[in-house]
Amino acid sequence: MASKNPSGKAFRNKAAGYNSPADAPVQDQQKTVAVAQSTMPAQREAAVPAAKTEAGLPVARPAAPVPAQRPDAQAPAMRDAALPSVPAAAEGSSAGTATVRQAPIPAAGSRMQHECSPRPMMAGNPYKPMPATVMDIIQETSNIKTLRVVLDDNEAMQAFTYEPGQVGQLSVFGVGESTFVINSPPSQKEYLQFSVMRAGEVTAAIHKLSPGDKVGVRAPLGNSFPWQSWKGKNIFFVGGGIGMAPIRTVMLHLLEHAADYGSISLLYGARSPKDMAYQYELQDWLDNPALNCTLCIDQPFEGWQHKVGLIPNVLLELAPSPHNTVAVLCGPPIMIKFTVQALEKLGFAAENIVTTLEKRMKCGIGICGRCNIGGRYVCVDGPVFTWKQLQELPPEL
Ligand SMILES: Cc1cc2nc3c(=O)[nH]c(=O)nc-3n(C[C@H](O)[C@H](O)[C@H](O)COP(=O)(O)OP(=O)(O)OC[C@H]3O[C@@H](n4cnc5c(N)ncnc54)[C@H](O)[C@@H]3O)c2cc1C
Ligand code: FES
Repeated sequence: MASKNPSGKAFRNKAAGYNSPADAPVQDQQKTVAVAQSTMPAQREAAVPAAKTEAGLPVARPAAPVPAQRPDAQAPAMRDAALPSVPAAAEGSSAGTATVRQAPIPAAGSRMQHECSPRPMMAGNPYKPMPATVMDIIQETSNIKTLRVVLDDNEAMQAFTYEPGQVGQLSVFGVGESTFVINSPPSQKEYLQFSVMRAGEVTAAIHKLSPGDKVGVRAPLGNSFPWQSWKGKNIFFVGGGIGMAPIRTVMLHLLEHAADYGSISLLYGARSPKDMAYQYELQDWLDNPALNCTLCIDQPFEGWQHKVGLIPNVLLELAPSPHNTVAVLCGPPIMIKFTVQALEKLGFAAENIVTTLEKRMKCGIGICGRCNIGGRYVCVDGPVFTWKQLQELPPEL
């Protein structure tokens, strides 16, 4: 019998004689990571133990190498964007609690063709989630719930640190795990907050959880917003729908250090007032003297006293100056596409536009190859990228 990984998907490594990375001797796990560090994404892909069909059903991955391009793995954010070549490291990237090891320098004649960023080396079994308990659940909208979870190991909870923009894998035991941004600011030490939009199997199971239920957490993962390098600059945040989750983390973090920045602005849009998450905080944001907050909805709605219009149009109307300003956007792909066009129209340079990619992930630690774009892995080199970096990635998605 094949065992199941934390995603609930069966996998087996027949050659090595064990059923899961967790079963593997420590030296074999280290070997797996070392191999992943020294091979190209397409080659790594062949070692991926399990995959999911579009319908969300677990399937065994073929033992034979699979093609580098997998249309089923396309991230919507990227489907709409035209992306041409050569990767560059994400500014201010961080690998959380994992120890970061330098990528091997390719020997002459080696097969490494792309520059690779350092890969995180997790201590112990990198697939093992930390047990946690759901403390609180907030129904944000009809299809978004916010969960506040506390790690069961009190010491681990106290020691847990992360940077704004980093994500976690949240698992429902027996169902699987999915990636969500940690959307509480790092100063919030009582719990980790994830806002989850219902999409498929795992998110539906998360939506069924109640306070007191057990979950698993693998975090923090990925890089972070380069907020340190933004000091002295104006910051213009644009959040659309569930894309407000990563914006919330970094925005609240910056507001705690507002004196270090120029103006801090937020344009938050949703289809209707009912589709706006964090409604209980909106008035505070509007009243905060350190924040220029603009809210907008797509269509007129009775009683709505804020802007009406699509985010890119409202942005053009607000016309923030590109001078010494960084624009940070998160939202659905179509919003990103047109908001970037609006920012370019306003004179923003591609390196001053920062966004996040939601390329589907599995391991979240640079091993499985599920999230690669050219020589980059979204789970390690991202999810935060500048628009300039995205323009330099291969147009394979
Ligand atoms: C870096 C990162 C951060 C994310 N942060 C959040 C967050 O804070 N809140 C949140 O609600 N979601 C977030 N997501 C998306 C979330 O991970 C997916 O919605 C979730 O994995 C879906 O799992 P599922 O089993 O419920 O759906 P599945 O059964 O796996 O899929 C259901 C449908 O959703 C599509 N889908 C699944 N995953 C993705 C994805 N990553 N991108 C686009 N389409 C997808 C599938 O193609 C399918 O159509 C994030 C994803 C990434 C990679
Ligand atoms: S390499 Fe596995 S999710 Fe990125």
